Amino acid sequence: MSGEESQGGRLLDGKALAARIEASLAAEVETFVEVCHRRPRLVVVLVGDVAASASYVKSKQAAAARVGIDSEVLQVEASVQTVDLVTLIKRVAAEEHGPADGILVQLPLPKHVDERAVLDAVPPDRDVDGFHPENAGLLSQGRPRFVPCTAAGVQRMLIDAGIATAGKHAVIVGRSDIVGKPLALLLASRGSGGDATVTLAHSRSTDLGEITRSADILVAAVGRPGLITADMVKPGAAVVDVGINRITDPVSGKSRLVGDVDFDAVRPHASWISPVPGGVGPLTVAMLLANTLVAAELRLGHRRGS
Ligand code: GUN
Repeated sequence: MSGEESQGGRLLDGKALAARIEASLAAEVETFVEVCHRRPRLVVVLVGDVAASASYVKSKQAAAARVGIDSEVLQVEASVQTVDLVTLIKRVAAEEHGPADGILVQLPLPKHVDERAVLDAVPPDRDVDGFHPENAGLLSQGRPRFVPCTAAGVQRMLIDAGIATAGKHAVIVGRSDIVGKPLALLLASRGSGGDATVTLAHSRSTDLGEITRSADILVAAVGRPGLITADMVKPGAAVVDVGINRITDPVSGKSRLVGDVDFDAVRPHASWISPVPGGVGPLTVAMLLANTLVAAELRLGHRRGS
């Protein structure tokens, strides 16, 4: 038995997969530039000064630069009113801030802002987050356009690792519009990375452990450290951890990132497991870049096959 195997589940290395996706996107971006004589461009609206949001946006900008996608961050005061954010998004869409193939509003927004009204203001053909009801509807009908990036990243991770989904029981814990709901639709859809039997569990589910123990594929997407313990995992299950939680280590006193899964305790029982950090996070960013390139190609009518 190798050192890797003796620890249990094989690592779902999102960082390595994201690097491969970025390499192929970079080549596609150069083809776009040759045809269109400009680069795809992403505009990010960042409201307030939430440290985690600022850090995610920085990663998105750095990744965009690596593949040759231009990006701009519009920083807005936390005190902004809904109507002013909607106006800003309309101005971005009218390209007052330069070309805007993809428009993204970093979440969460301050409590006083009507998040739905703001997200609905993003034109659906630039909605690289896939949060507009038109894109959510297209996904639910099995004809996806922009798929929410984290959900797309989880499915891509499973496909890349060769983890069979057809006929398997996938349990997703967490019913958010950003991850849980779109991932349930993807895994239940027909074709590669789909055809699973999906259970969408949540905070009101009765006996969560009984449900998760029946999962061949278990996805945790709640945002609660230590939610998934070893006794909640079927031996041989593939475990994907979407949680990103900053905790203070009780021993060292230092802050660090952990997921929703008790990684060290669960790994010996799993066939595959994604780490935090370095698992789903980098794939979310890679999928955003892919969506931005598609948005640019769709707008200019240069999408292959269109
Ligand atoms: N905040 C946490 N995840 C996301 C995401 O996928 N998109 C946006 N816009 N904000 C987020």
